[in-house]
Amino acid sequence: MTDSDVAENRRSEVLPAVASPKAIDSPYPADEFRVQIESLEDIVIARQQARHLASKLGFSKCNLTLIATAISEIARNAVEYANGGEVVITAISSGNRRGVKIVVSDRGPGIADIPSVMRDGYSTVNRLGIGLPGTRRLMDEFEVSSESGEGTTVTMKKWAS
Ligand SMILES: Nc1ncnc2c1ncn2[C@@H]1O[C@H](COP(=O)(O)OP(=O)(O)OP(=O)(O)O)[C@@H](O)[C@H]1O
Ligand SMILES: [Mg+2]
Repeated sequence: MTDSDVAENRRSEVLPAVASPKAIDSPYPADEFRVQIESLEDIVIARQQARHLASKLGFSKCNLTLIATAISEIARNAVEYANGGEVVITAISSGNRRGVKIVVSDRGPGIADIPSVMRDGYSTVNRLGIGLPGTRRLMDEFEVSSESGEGTTVTMKKWAS
């Protein structure tokens, strides 16, 4: 057996062990989608992926629209203020509850004053300034973390029931 055979064997032992817990834990086969966002067209794709996943989880039509709106607002911010980013949509569960987690991250300039941007009407570009605070009201959980110069991550969750 050569060194590469050993490495190959080790890999074949490790792979199923890594792959199976996720498959066993999750009742849903495709429970995560990742969409790179560079343009407004990419946001349409992220919205469609989220609707698809959320409808399989039993979300009402109204909630599907709220989730799509939340993605639009936060991903649009990533395009406009950070030259794009990434949206990751994940099926989650807690006890009997099913839900979706949406993480929108970018590597833009970051947000220096998070409490200010979370207030209705605060905009550095003279717009309505309701994207972030309005989206927080649509979702069940909402968190912004940002490091100046390092980028911004918005994590939100919505539960189906
Ligand atoms: N990803 C981001 N990176 C850097 N700054 C951001 C980011 N997202 C939001 N901001 C800043 O936070 C401010 C508030 O964002 P928010 O989405 O609430 O309002 P807006 O984009 O200005 O207007 P709109 O109501 O059209 O969304 C923005 O004006 C911008 O300065
Ligand atoms: Mg906005």
